[in-house]
Amino acid sequence: NAIIGSLDNFTDEEKMLRDAVQRFAVDVVAPKVREMDENESMDPSIIKGLFDQGLMGIETSAEHGGAECSFTSAIIVIEELAKIDPSVSVMCDVHNTLVNTIFRTYGTQEQQAKWLPQLAESKLGSFCLSETASGSDAFALQTRAKKDGDHYIINGSKMWITNSHEAEVFLIFANVDPSKGYKGITCFVATKDMGIEIMKKEQKLGIRASSTCTLNFDNLRVPAENVIGGEGKGYKIAIEILNEGRIGIAAQMLGLAQGAFDKAVPYTYQRQQFGQPIGTFQGMAFQIARAAVELESARLLTYNAARLKEEGKPFTKEAAMAKYWASQVAQSVSGQAIEWAGGVGFTRETGIEKFWRDSKIGAIYEGTSNIQLQTIAKFIQKQYS
Ligand code: CAA
Ligand code: FAD
Repeated sequence: NAIIGSLDNFTDEEKMLRDAVQRFAVDVVAPKVREMDENESMDPSIIKGLFDQGLMGIETSAEHGGAECSFTSAIIVIEELAKIDPSVSVMCDVHNTLVNTIFRTYGTQEQQAKWLPQLAESKLGSFCLSETASGSDAFALQTRAKKDGDHYIINGSKMWITNSHEAEVFLIFANVDPSKGYKGITCFVATKDMGIEIMKKEQKLGIRASSTCTLNFDNLRVPAENVIGGEGKGYKIAIEILNEGRIGIAAQMLGLAQGAFDKAVPYTYQRQQFGQPIGTFQGMAFQIARAAVELESARLLTYNAARLKEEGKPFTKEAAMAKYWASQVAQSVSGQAIEWAGGVGFTRETGIEKFWRDSKIGAIYEGTSNIQLQTIAKFIQKQYS
């Protein structure tokens, strides 16, 4: 890659992983990107490929069939996939940083032994928190779970659930005791065959190959042993996992911005106008230089947050900053990349416009940009007041 910035604190293992994911993305994913975007569907061979490459249990222990890599490795995988297709990237991101991580962090030994191997081998996971009336205000969720002997009965619905068209394992957040407010929220694992109704896919502006569906639970019976982390612990599980997940979305947006940059910049040195390559006009060269600075800043924020998390240090504020900033950078760099390629950039042919369409979601999911700012602001207020 022409620019991966000056950040070079990756281990040999992480560098080898980056090379391997780059090869997979270029050889296997790239040929399918346009077709998947136009058909609004994920090619099953790509999902299988991700599992076969060991990328779907990236931090999972070898004992449970995973690759046992670092958190930074999981972030590298998301970034590399996003350089080629942000849809494939988010599928892997949700599966690893949200679903697998919940089992690894909060699951009992029995739950880990049961679920992690399936999730590393072939079964795709979904994280089901948002609802029609509770997006940013996620803890106001209306899905309810009622104990019934050795089962819980879940009723309600979820909206916007990534991977849900292809997934087999669902982490569902439901309230078992609304009188306790959000302290009744509980996390359950359920499988598709228990009777989850999965509605049609949303038609979207971007990340169109990534499935996003509404789910309905009509007296869904889930064994009591499928509660993760205990009754009432769900809200903390959800937000603590999202703190980590936000570094993943930062990496997705960083990879996306780099992917757009890598496509458009070489073109500016080939395309001649007024007898010289357009990229050598100062007006263009300075825009490109500024975009490189933006990319570098997003990269430093993202990998700094990843290392903090990996080293067990506080990282919530830094993760919010990384997600907020990388989402801004993704929009600005991919938007400019279209302009650098002129009319050609505006067509579907080059794929640059797709990066721009895909970039919009970064400021919306896993906490909108305002929610990230609110998180950062709370830290500042605590420190300075
Ligand atoms: N980290 C840890 N704990 C946090 C926290 C954070 N960032 N933010 C809030 N909390 C805790 C508080 O400490 C408090 O817990 P205690 O009572 O135990 O102390 C509790 O949460 C409630 O705190 P607040 O009253 O301050 O929070 P709130 O109710 O106003 O909002 C929130 C909390 C719902 C987490 C909100 O800040 C938020 O992040 N909303 C966005 C939701 C979100 O990110 N959804 C993503 C869905 S998944 C997804 O999108 C995946 C995908 O697309 C790919
Ligand atoms: P709202 O919360 O209604 O926000 C609308 C606007 O109001 C935003 O600009 C927001 O910043 C602003 N706003 C709201 N509250 C405040 C405030 N307090 N201060 C300032 N501004 C505020 N959810 C899942 O659970 N699992 C998934 O896998 C998942 N995947 C998704 C995939 C896609 C493609 C999309 C679009 C969404 C996905 N989501 C998922 C849901 C996503 O997390 C929510 O869309 C997001 O949290 C925002 O919620 P909302 O859409 O209800 O917007």
